[in-house]
Amino acid sequence: MPATNGAPDSPRNTHFGFRTVGLDDKQAMVDEVFDKVAPRYDLMNDLMSGGVHRVWKDILATAVNPPRNERPFAVLDVAGGTGDVAFRIAEAGGTGTRVTVCDINEDMLGVGRERARQRGLDDSVIFMTGNAESLPFPDRSFDACSIAFGIRNVPRIDVALAEFHRVLRHGGRFLCLEFSTVDVPWLDALYDFCSFNVIPALGRTVAGDAGAYRYLVESIRRFPKPNAFADMISAAGFRRVSFRMLTGGVVALHSGWRL
Ligand SMILES: C[S@@+](CC[C@H](N)C(=O)[O-])C[C@H]1O[C@@H](n2cnc3c(N)ncnc32)[C@H](O)[C@@H]1O
Repeated sequence: MPATNGAPDSPRNTHFGFRTVGLDDKQAMVDEVFDKVAPRYDLMNDLMSGGVHRVWKDILATAVNPPRNERPFAVLDVAGGTGDVAFRIAEAGGTGTRVTVCDINEDMLGVGRERARQRGLDDSVIFMTGNAESLPFPDRSFDACSIAFGIRNVPRIDVALAEFHRVLRHGGRFLCLEFSTVDVPWLDALYDFCSFNVIPALGRTVAGDAGAYRYLVESIRRFPKPNAFADMISAAGFRRVSFRMLTGGVVALHSGWRL
């Protein structure tokens, strides 16, 4: 397995899984992955995580802490895909809570819109096409900004973090859920086995594409370690940056405030 969490060899390069690719080429490759996985995305999440992704997303929605009353509260869920996180936040909040899902992939958004309609949430959750690196929203327009399992797919993470800071109001909170580094002895061996054997096989059987799921696994290994990612969040201007590890380090929840 190649070295994990490594920096690209040139500022014009980045990683697409374990491959080094041009910064300007990565997004199209990522889009192709999510075009392929969109129809089976939610089912695959349940199968790959044994349903635990639901618990992680509940923890994220609780941390967003939308008011339970009619007070207006605007949340942006970047890379929100099929709406899984947005629905939890909307259901946790009162009548004043509005969640905007912004994602670059129309296929993922299409699944999300249909799910919102079925849940009767199409008034409180809206879906918009947009790139995390150039968000289509004015400065200081949201009370909270979340991103779940999305940031590692973005080619220029520093640019996206600056955008999250820009669109938050003063006193607004940024929360990021992302796969991280397992540091429990027996769990890391099991995690490696599942990552490189079980998940691509599941991808082939259920979603008809092992390669897309191999990318998802590899991209996790390339993502910065939690301390390094916390430094990137601080460098974007966020204050009181912190993180907590969940499930033995399988996932980290990072937090920062625009103050
Ligand atoms: C692993 S999915 C996560 C979806 C959802 N947040 C969840 O937790 O179920 C990653 C999402 O990131 C989106 N994405 C990738 N690059 C993006 C970008 N530059 N800007 C916005 N969304 C992006 C993909 O289209 C995909 O929907």
